[in-house]
Amino acid sequence: MKGIILHGGAGTRLRPLTFSGPKQLIPVANKPISQYVLEDLRNIGIRDIAIVLGETFPELVMQHYSDGSRFNVRISYVHQGKPLGIAHAVYLCKDFVQDDGFVVYLGDNLLQKGIKSYFEKFLANNYDCMILLKEVDDPSRFGVAEFDEKGSLVRLVEKPKVPPSRFALVGVYFFKPIVFDVIKDLKPSWRGELEITDAIQTMLEKGYRVGYSIVEGWWLDTGKKDDILYANSLILDEHGVREIKGELVDSKAEGRVSVGEDSKVVNSVIRGPAVIGGNCIIQNSFIGPYTSIGDNVKVLNSSIEYSIVLEEACIEGVDRLEESLIGRNARLVKNRAKNAVKLHVGDYSEIEL
Ligand code: TTP
Repeated sequence: MKGIILHGGAGTRLRPLTFSGPKQLIPVANKPISQYVLEDLRNIGIRDIAIVLGETFPELVMQHYSDGSRFNVRISYVHQGKPLGIAHAVYLCKDFVQDDGFVVYLGDNLLQKGIKSYFEKFLANNYDCMILLKEVDDPSRFGVAEFDEKGSLVRLVEKPKVPPSRFALVGVYFFKPIVFDVIKDLKPSWRGELEITDAIQTMLEKGYRVGYSIVEGWWLDTGKKDDILYANSLILDEHGVREIKGELVDSKAEGRVSVGEDSKVVNSVIRGPAVIGGNCIIQNSFIGPYTSIGDNVKVLNSSIEYSIVLEEACIEGVDRLEESLIGRNARLVKNRAKNAVKLHVGDYSEIEL
């Protein structure tokens, strides 16, 4: 079996962060989202992985993953460029896949329990395709499954206004190479994309063996800021550890708090689960639960909770920062002298005052 990680797409909903990097590299608990995906594939024994690159800084992806040896896998890169659809991205991997079965994993999807049990089910049942489904409250945002009265999967509908069920299509798909014959004949949808739902629908109609599994535990599609913050909280909750490598001076680190090397925490309280990268300065501040702070960040006289702060950012004099995603090298400084808000904000930023 081989693995394909989709690392393309436009990431418009995550602007302005996606002006300087692909969304799948945004860190959650200080690790890029797509690295969780890669590690999930590796942990089920998949060693050959293709990463499909889009237009948004593909070189950053190649820089992070390189040839894969650091992660104990072999990585091939496939350039998609414009996001012409998930099925389009999959088709570009035909030569990489050859005659093997393969898993397609969207690089921004996270599954609490990983994909091991589904992978085993796919192999054991000799399916041509197997999809994963999860019951959700708002199925209209997703591809949705329709079942007949016997519970067999009969149809997939992309973002339906009136959903036929509450089962959304999760971004992990198992295929045999027969899917390439199906994708070859697909026509672009109204949004100009080759849709993976159309490919699977065609497989169903042509009588191929299409199975499904219902995902246990949480599943997150991290397409928007709030999803990323939520993923951060869930991952810190589940995997947060206590590990203090940096220095604590007149400070308290309560619970599962990790402080990276060369970081200095002075006269502050850090309440876990929280992670602080290396070479940070936290002074006269409170870092609350569910917060991840990247390397080389400065937090002075501030209080932060349920947030992600990326590398090199500086936060000074901000009383209560919550539910925030702060980009690399951003500077947030309270202007105490004047009762005015002064901003220098990138395109598509969002500020709630
Ligand atoms: P989406 O989240 O649907 O698309 P997007 O990344 O363009 O986001 P936005 O709507 O905010 O602009 O894509 C799902 C995943 O599939 C995501 O990881 C990107 C990836 N993808 C590709 O790699 N190639 C493609 O052609 C498409 C459509 C998506």
